[in-house]
Amino acid sequence: MVELTLPKNSKVKQGKRHKARAGAKKVREFKVYRYDPETGENPRWDTYELDLSTCGPMVLDALIAIKNDMDSTLTFRRSCREGVCGSCAMNIGGRNTLACTKGIDELSGNGAITVSPLPHQPVLKDLVPDLTNFTAQYAAIQPYLQTVTPEPDGEWRQSPEERAKLDGLYECILCACCSTSCPSYWWNADRFMGPAALLQAYRWINDSRDEMQGERLDALEDPFKLYRCHTIMNCAQVCPKGLNPAKAIAEIKKAMVERKL
Ligand code: SF4
Ligand code: F3S
Ligand code: FES
Repeated sequence: MVELTLPKNSKVKQGKRHKARAGAKKVREFKVYRYDPETGENPRWDTYELDLSTCGPMVLDALIAIKNDMDSTLTFRRSCREGVCGSCAMNIGGRNTLACTKGIDELSGNGAITVSPLPHQPVLKDLVPDLTNFTAQYAAIQPYLQTVTPEPDGEWRQSPEERAKLDGLYECILCACCSTSCPSYWWNADRFMGPAALLQAYRWINDSRDEMQGERLDALEDPFKLYRCHTIMNCAQVCPKGLNPAKAIAEIKKAMVERKL
């Protein structure tokens, strides 16, 4: 398991304990990172004793139950509840993942389950990281089809084999679990594009219909943007969609070499 560190602004103290109701039978503790920059107070860990018989099986179900029944001030993002929107990405039990697809049962032992925001991002509130930089990097790779030849009648076509080259790339939901698990990204997020943006860049470099491969590679030919990947591999270990950004990065590096030969 990849053990990850806490968010940047963390001198985290023990906070409040919210007890389960008397007589609750199946109790599990959730230790949740709390931070509200508007109060000027340091972050803290609040502990919630949750009766698991009152909520669904996923960590997101537990957070929703805590918010609904114990502490309405707890703040987190979520939308689809089925692993397709990427908004509930957070650090659970020391590992970046999606709260909506992480089963409470999967977190072994009876100890407290720690829940904190994605690491090394500024925290807007509680479990909500500021992903402005991450999103800007995605926009910078120009994630759309670019061509110079006139648009054909009907549609841009691909053979089944060409289409298959996008498998393992198009499924990315931009949850940021990979980039925020990468130590190289922690230290150089302003200049290293990070595994998510690079996987997305390769998705377009590798698209047979796109006619800007050279320009796309030129844009990444930089000591930091691409080459700050040191093959640490956390990105591939944590991706909740089972993708391999490290492989995509290696393919971009290979394409850089091949075009010089
Ligand atoms: Fe999330 Fe995986 Fe995409 Fe990274 S590659 S943003 S971990 S879906
Ligand atoms: Fe980081 Fe993945 Fe490279 S963890 S260093 S982007 S292999
Ligand atoms: Fe959409 Fe979890 S709520 S991925």
